Amino acid sequence: MATILGIESTAHTFGVGVVKNGKVLSNVRDSFTTKKGGLIPIEVAKHHHEVCDSVLDNALKEAGISLEEIEGVAFSQGPGLAPCLKEGMKFAKKLAGKLKVPLISVNHCVAHLEIGKIVGAQDPVMLYASGANTQVIAYAAGKYRVFGETLDLGVGNFIDTFARFARLGFPGGPKIAELAEKSKNYIELPYSIKGMDISFSGMQTKLRQLLDKGEKLEDLSFSLQETTFAMLVEAVERAMAHTEKKELLIGGGVSCNTRLKEMCEIMCRERGAKFFCPENSLLVDNGAMIAYLGEIMFEKKIFEKDFEKVDFLPRQRTDDVEVRWK
Ligand code: ATP
Ligand code: FE2
Repeated sequence: MATILGIESTAHTFGVGVVKNGKVLSNVRDSFTTKKGGLIPIEVAKHHHEVCDSVLDNALKEAGISLEEIEGVAFSQGPGLAPCLKEGMKFAKKLAGKLKVPLISVNHCVAHLEIGKIVGAQDPVMLYASGANTQVIAYAAGKYRVFGETLDLGVGNFIDTFARFARLGFPGGPKIAELAEKSKNYIELPYSIKGMDISFSGMQTKLRQLLDKGEKLEDLSFSLQETTFAMLVEAVERAMAHTEKKELLIGGGVSCNTRLKEMCEIMCRERGAKFFCPENSLLVDNGAMIAYLGEIMFEKKIFEKDFEKVDFLPRQRTDDVEVRWK
């Protein structure tokens, strides 16, 4: 039972959330966006540096607490873009140092999973579909194991890359979703799944060729969504069958997509499984999920008092994390 502040900065989003006794008191975000072009890590880190103080102020205000009430500061340790992670860690260390409270290092991917408890998921298979990450994860023997994942791009990056090619700006996911609504004309695209692993580069190449040939962007968006999400759902269903788990939890920004949610729901209904989906503000990168897992770890005293020993880990893997709080 503690009041924990969580800081998220792995990629384009700088977020601060406050959690107390497993309840989200606030969840404030400021995301780097562009009209055209993609993300340049150094520029994104600059954005985080510029907005960090105001995001913190707003998170405290929204939570209705003062800084002095914070008992621990949790931050996203990895995986992510090094300059962005560094900015978040610097901010977290400064705050924890000033308040003389523990610094809690949280794995970003595991935080996406643990936040599922807030909507009642107990032992789910998780589909983590975000910009940089696409993984099918489940808990087994002391760790979160990755059962399947993308062999090339993360699904969000894949969609964003095509959107950028089509001059739609960043982030492309919501724009592609909007265009997809306007079509029911399915154009066959490469469907690539091996076991529980998937890849997108073949589909990317094909989509570009078709767009250059003059196919309508609405039809391509619709076909992209149908093909991509069918691959994700097939991978996750296979993991559910393999692990005999009866719950599906989704997370990551791409999980905001209504068509993906619908396809997951149908699959779960057909196999008599339960489907869990937190609200969109907890699906995207956010500080509240970092604070939420931070509180669980804080209660089990999994934190560091000597901040010198703590560093960010751009390539930290989900299955490297020892889940000592379960
Ligand atoms: P991570 O660091 O976990 O990889 P991320 O930095 O990419 O995550 P998220 O906020 O989890 O951040 O996800 C952002 C991605 O979600 C972007 O690629 C964006 O295009 C995609 N996205 C957002 N909304 C939708 C939507 N409605 N449909 C499809 N994709 C979406
Ligand atoms: Fe994420």
